[in-house]
Amino acid sequence: MIEAAADTPEPGIDAKHWDRVYETIADDAVSWFEPEPRASLEALALADISVRASLVDVGAGSSRLVEQLLDRGATDLTVVDIASSAFETSRARLGSRALKVDWVVADVTQWCPDRRFDVWHDRALFHFLTEPWQRDGYRAALRSATAGGAWMIIATFADDGPDRCSGLPVQRYDGPSLTAEFASDFVAHDVWRDEHRSPGGVIQPFTWAVMRRR
Ligand SMILES: C[S@@+](CC[C@H](N)C(=O)[O-])C[C@H]1O[C@@H](n2cnc3c(N)ncnc32)[C@H](O)[C@@H]1O
Repeated sequence: MIEAAADTPEPGIDAKHWDRVYETIADDAVSWFEPEPRASLEALALADISVRASLVDVGAGSSRLVEQLLDRGATDLTVVDIASSAFETSRARLGSRALKVDWVVADVTQWCPDRRFDVWHDRALFHFLTEPWQRDGYRAALRSATAGGAWMIIATFADDGPDRCSGLPVQRYDGPSLTAEFASDFVAHDVWRDEHRSPGGVIQPFTWAVMRRR
């Protein structure tokens, strides 16, 4: 199922930018490309999360996470992204298996989820939210999409990581500053640093956190 796009985004969140990215750059050439979502799978294992858990990947882009989870037997997967063009690549790759995934084109800062998930996953979206109102919107969606006991897996550029990505400024986080963003609802379970090597060979330090909703 593909949901309709959200209302026109507020200034500062440029859906057209992201659509252009996926229309003009091969999905394995973007700086965040990884052939295998190693750290995401490690995070799921760290929290001993069952493959049967319902999972939403926000800012999923054309990530391979969904197909890797389908390979492992997942049955309740949702992806959210502001760029519909990102999903065209993923859906083409998945073929008929795309029908097993819910595809939501929305700006997560304005998204009103109509259900709850066991796991919220975000690799490299949250750091683009440089304005407090954007992060408030993100937290509102996160709160609606989860209940007590739900897991959140999030990765942003680390405090010594790049200060821009895809030509846009980013907010960088170390472990304490990242977990503080969600401390009103979520307790940190594991926090660590990981290094991503871009297709161009550039090392990008990330802060990863697994948190659990109170
Ligand atoms: C750096 S990419 C990461 C993609 C994917 N998570 C991965 O690891 O390959 C950031 C993604 O977030 C999406 N994005 C940016 N701002 C967004 C927003 N406000 N709401 C939903 N998606 C957004 C972009 O379209 C892009 O696909």
